[in-house]
Amino acid sequence: MINKEKTSVLFVCLGNICRSPTAHGVFRAQVERAGLIAEIEIDSAGTAAYHVGNAPDQRSASTALQRGYDLSDLRARQAVRADFNQYDYILAMDKQNLSDLRDICPANYSGYLGLFLELVPGNIIEVPDPYYGGADGFDHVLDLVEDASLALLQRIQNELAQN
Ligand code: 4NP
Repeated sequence: MINKEKTSVLFVCLGNICRSPTAHGVFRAQVERAGLIAEIEIDSAGTAAYHVGNAPDQRSASTALQRGYDLSDLRARQAVRADFNQYDYILAMDKQNLSDLRDICPANYSGYLGLFLELVPGNIIEVPDPYYGGADGFDHVLDLVEDASLALLQRIQNELAQN
């Protein structure tokens, strides 16, 4: 573990107002339900700085709230090189986000940097950007993120059980 006290997870998309705050809120709720909120640190960030300081996109926030996830406390920030000193898991929503993260990743990073959906068996490996699309896209993000978050929680629970 990079941070010795907690397993730490950073979700990353482009703007940090749609996909990664959704993942942040969903995973946080699942971790709370599992009684592990004191053991797991969670954050999200964007590779771009366009929306720094902004609350999640209203469409993401309302779609999440319909399923019981409150994103209202989240604010966008940009992913930075120092995040690699802090987070055990840095999970990108799409291949471009991953490529942009690799560009700032220190050579000696010892955590897990990869696509979020790689944690789930199946053919869909990217969480599609819903920003310029319709309401269906936001529901699809929630579907993908709920499944992948459960897989991530299972993986971390297995790690915690081994330590
Ligand atoms: P996100 O979605 O990366 O899931 O937060 C986007 C948010 C904003 C923009 C693009 C994608 N934008 O171009 O401003």
